[in-house]
Amino acid sequence: MERKNTMNSLLIKGGRIVDPSQKMDQIADLWIRSGKVEAIGPQLQIPPHETVERIDASQLIVTPGWIDIHTHLREPGGTHKETIETGARAAAAGGFTSIACMANTQPVNDSSYITTYIRQKVAMESPIHIFPIGAVTKGLKGEELAEIGSMREAGIVAISDDGKTVMNAYLFRKALDYSRRFDLTVISHAEDLNLKGLGVMNEGFNSARFGLRGVPRAAEEVIVARDIYLAELTGARLHVAHVSTAGSVALIREAKRRGIQVTAEVTPHHLTLTDEAVGTYDTNTKVAPPLREQEDIEALQEAVADGTVDALASDHAPHSREEKAVEYDQAEFGMVGLETAFPLYYAKVLKNHWDLSKMVAAMTLKPAKIIGVKKGTLQVGADADVSIFDPAMEWIVDKTQFQSKSQNTPFHFWKMRGKPVYTIVEGRVVYRGALNA
Ligand code: DOR
Repeated sequence: MERKNTMNSLLIKGGRIVDPSQKMDQIADLWIRSGKVEAIGPQLQIPPHETVERIDASQLIVTPGWIDIHTHLREPGGTHKETIETGARAAAAGGFTSIACMANTQPVNDSSYITTYIRQKVAMESPIHIFPIGAVTKGLKGEELAEIGSMREAGIVAISDDGKTVMNAYLFRKALDYSRRFDLTVISHAEDLNLKGLGVMNEGFNSARFGLRGVPRAAEEVIVARDIYLAELTGARLHVAHVSTAGSVALIREAKRRGIQVTAEVTPHHLTLTDEAVGTYDTNTKVAPPLREQEDIEALQEAVADGTVDALASDHAPHSREEKAVEYDQAEFGMVGLETAFPLYYAKVLKNHWDLSKMVAAMTLKPAKIIGVKKGTLQVGADADVSIFDPAMEWIVDKTQFQSKSQNTPFHFWKMRGKPVYTIVEGRVVYRGALNA
């Protein structure tokens, strides 16, 4: 799909523009020209000779384009679950203008060949920006480092063995050392494989009740603690993916206080569901790390509010019906997230857990910084990536309408409030949702 801007000029009129990069929250116009932000401010006057397409954004909220730094697109190798094209469409429908895709494809993105392949496919097929993340170790095997330097040259924005923890602390330390040389953030999937064992849900009262093997919180926390020490040792930038426990939050908060370069993200499902949901034995509730308990949700919410958790990310993990229509123990870990992430975050604003600009910063400015891309702002001259949502629209999730190839969501039929209505990438409208549905 051609991404180049063909439209000369677009005027988004009268929206509430929330752009934390400029500390802006006001009713204003946004004028986009040749794919860049031309002007921003109240009642903009467009020269009479200019041909502009107009979007009436009164009653709508206009923000810098949303960035999801944690998705799984399954291409190459798992195209029955998702392709770059379907994942990109799901992202656009979910309001995202940029996403980063994890390396656990088949083959794994552990060499410049695979990175280049992904980038070529993205250039041909994606209406949004997709930034590849390279593996830390070859084949995600945890035995030897991947070709980090050549992948960097080919265009990766971070490294991660997400889906698997690099259990060898020496190797992870080496990865952190290398990452500094290549100015890359290292993203940690924090689950000690031995403590996790064959666990499929949070270890606690409910795992006993449901007769399922548990994953203790400590499986996550020992790796978060280890990786913080290694970040301190190396001076590298560490990012902790999908934080799920109150204990991890406390470790990250303390590390930040000590000046260690650590950032963290949280997913919509860890912010919304507890391990009670596993009691349905719906395999769509099976995720890694597992859904925890109410006190963890509260700690995660608070961590976003106080900035301990920097970014909101979906961990969009598509799996086919066959891979999920099995016994809970046997099912793959993961749920799709791109098309339901936003309203689940926005619910926290509606419940006054976060203010709006905090949420927007965690979806724009801060994730851009973590992966080092020049995005997340509507400053004059910036790429005109814009997300516009209707804060009042109520709608019901229907997984059969997803753009994603997979439907593994526990949020089917959930009633949501707040919906993306325009997704704009470099001045081009790549998704237009129904208004007042
Ligand atoms: O639930 C998950 N699914 N967590 C991960 O970290 C990996 C992901 C996947 O690739 O399916």
